[in-house]
Amino acid sequence: MIEPPASAHPAQAEPAPGGSAPSLAPSADAAPPVVAFRNVSIAFDGPPVLQDISFSVAPGETRILLGPAGVGKSVMLKLVNGLLRPDRGGILLFGQEITTMPEQQLFPLRTRTGMVFQEGALFDSLTVRDNVAYQLIQEGVPDDEIDRRVRDALRFVELEETFDFYPASLSGGMRRRVAIARALIHQPELILYDSPTGGLDPVTSTTIIELIVKERDVYRTPSLLVTHRLQDAFTLCTHRFDAEEGKMVPLPQGETDPDTTFLMLEEGRLIFDGSLRDLLHTPNKFVREFLE
Ligand SMILES: Nc1ncnc2c1ncn2[C@@H]1O[C@H](COP(=O)(O)OP(=O)(O)OP(=O)(O)O)[C@@H](O)[C@H]1O
Ligand SMILES: [Mg+2]
Repeated sequence: MIEPPASAHPAQAEPAPGGSAPSLAPSADAAPPVVAFRNVSIAFDGPPVLQDISFSVAPGETRILLGPAGVGKSVMLKLVNGLLRPDRGGILLFGQEITTMPEQQLFPLRTRTGMVFQEGALFDSLTVRDNVAYQLIQEGVPDDEIDRRVRDALRFVELEETFDFYPASLSGGMRRRVAIARALIHQPELILYDSPTGGLDPVTSTTIIELIVKERDVYRTPSLLVTHRLQDAFTLCTHRFDAEEGKMVPLPQGETDPDTTFLMLEEGRLIFDGSLRDLLHTPNKFVREFLE
């Protein structure tokens, strides 16, 4: 198991520079959000990809982002950790306004997040150990500490034996597990999963979802997760990780994880923000068509 993030920076809310974004100020009794978007819009060459998007991720929450191909889901994740900048609106990450933050200041914030890129994005010329260790190597962490932390992360994803392997010798599901281990190596305070089961068969997808449920229930790290597979989204909501059994088990009939909720994009707009129950009962015709 990876050690609990004892030394991790607590996610503290700091006022936005210039005192802007009063609507995002946390109320006295609510924990400040880990991520908060306020009226965010972004366009590239053509029409806006995202328009006027507002939502938040609270501590301990898993937010599942749904939407058709090309709607802007990956763009949304890249906005969260400052890999893209919006044209309008505000984004708070760990309580800090990042939309205008210089890259040098953004870097330490980005290292507090773990990103599982779409398709995994492993470096084929590096071993599993060096892929998982990538960030630690950049930081000059001593070799023996790297080895120990990589082994911990690989044990969590049940792939310890692949330490010296190259990605080419791994199956698609194993590669995705390595990508998850790489995202967890820093004991992140927020995990961004971009289509973690994309391109995998249903059985392998379920093993990846089980790993994500394990991460969620063992560490309660907040996350924003993109998926095309409704089955994955429903499994995340209706299962929990049983630490004694060492596996994912269904919640009692009719129960769902209260901290796992949905966002849905359609043509650049956020058209849904709520629970599984609300999703299944919404009158919104785009959501209903998507669910069919
Ligand atoms: N860096 C970029 N420069 C220009 N256009 C971009 C860039 N990144 C994304 N886009 C465009 O933004 C739109 C949304 O892309 P995005 O990758 O976020 O879609 P997506 O919802 O993740 O799709 P998929 O389900 O296929 O992964 C697309 O039209 C894409 O071409
Ligand atoms: Mg995408």
